[in-house]
Amino acid sequence: MLSGRRILLIISGGIAAYKSLDLIRRLRERGGAVRCIVTKAGAEFVTPLAVATLSRDKVFGDLFSLTDESEIGHIRLARDADLVVVAPATADLIARMALGLASDLASTVLLATDRPILIAPAMNYVMWAHPATQANVKTLAGRGVRMLGPVQGELAEGETGMGRMSEPLDIVAAIEAFFSGTGRLKGRRALVTSGPTHEPIDPVRYIANRSSGRQGHAIAAALAALGADTMLVTGPTVQLDPAGVEIKRIETAEQMLGACRDALPVDVAVCAAAVADWRVADPRNQKIKKNGKPGDAAPILRLAENPDILASLSAAGKLRPRLVIGFAAETEDVVAHAVAKRKKKGCDWILANDVSVAAGTFGGDDNAVHLIDGKGVDSWPRLTKDEVARRLAARIADYLAAPA
Ligand code: C5P
Repeated sequence: MLSGRRILLIISGGIAAYKSLDLIRRLRERGGAVRCIVTKAGAEFVTPLAVATLSRDKVFGDLFSLTDESEIGHIRLARDADLVVVAPATADLIARMALGLASDLASTVLLATDRPILIAPAMNYVMWAHPATQANVKTLAGRGVRMLGPVQGELAEGETGMGRMSEPLDIVAAIEAFFSGTGRLKGRRALVTSGPTHEPIDPVRYIANRSSGRQGHAIAAALAALGADTMLVTGPTVQLDPAGVEIKRIETAEQMLGACRDALPVDVAVCAAAVADWRVADPRNQKIKKNGKPGDAAPILRLAENPDILASLSAAGKLRPRLVIGFAAETEDVVAHAVAKRKKKGCDWILANDVSVAAGTFGGDDNAVHLIDGKGVDSWPRLTKDEVARRLAARIADYLAAPA
């Protein structure tokens, strides 16, 4: 059921727009409040009058309508919804979303919204397969936009292929699944570590690694999206701050450990950070000078082992989170090494991934992981890092919902 849920439906210009009329009816049948934006091209396929009649609301279409703006500004329109749905999402609108254009009301609202977005693409199969569309879709997925379809089938032009919009009932099911997930972690506290750590050599130099923080940040966002009170302890990254998450920025492993301890107690801790194994034992207070002549001995760095945050949280006694999850980045024998690592660190679950150069995981868009718990190994298909995060958050919610 969708009682009380506010859905902003954007109808762009494709023949599948006729199915959006049925979608509105189905959403309303389930108690959803549906407000619609019909693009100029969309209005060539369905009349705003039909949309208004079915949604029982005013229909919005023109960014520069002063009457519209005085009644409800485009920024409010963008935020007064629990979910923004674009169905059908044409190749053109997907491209404008990917570029961040604000050339009409629909694209402006999509740029101005801080709400979750679900798109149901519909287009000719050649347009769907085009590298430009595929790159745009990947960009959107990387930003957390949810996508349903397209599906295989007969297309309007009489051709057959991948490009049909998902059926209204399937879109309704995806919307219901989205809402049934939200709030599952309400009242729970989550801690996530993310990014690399920087270990200073002197005031200007440091030791670091290639972690982008993408997966850890996505996990924090996914836990917060399910309602968890989430704290993200992150090393230096260029990732955007995930919405609705409390952020603690640190540089070194020792600072990360301190921030994690301060965050306890929590129900779940996910250690996705690539913590440096060693720090420089005696970082200098002044920049090390290269004052010698060619051939002079280079400075030797003495390293000291860093604290293991995952192991430390797993052994936190009374303060131990009910669920402690670590990552195992491996370049060979991924599962075997991860199984051993789970035991050694004392955590409950390990997500193992292949970070060999060929796998392109570091800094890349997707990730192929195996979830290892006390019972066995669950190998997930290659997914975007956002999808991995959402799946993990759902698994965490299932686990915490079961009696301790
Ligand atoms: O030992 P290794 O670095 O392969 O273990 C990876 C897992 O341990 C990750 O979950 C990482 O966040 C965590 N870790 C940690 N503190 C360290 C080293 C690793 O929390 N000092």
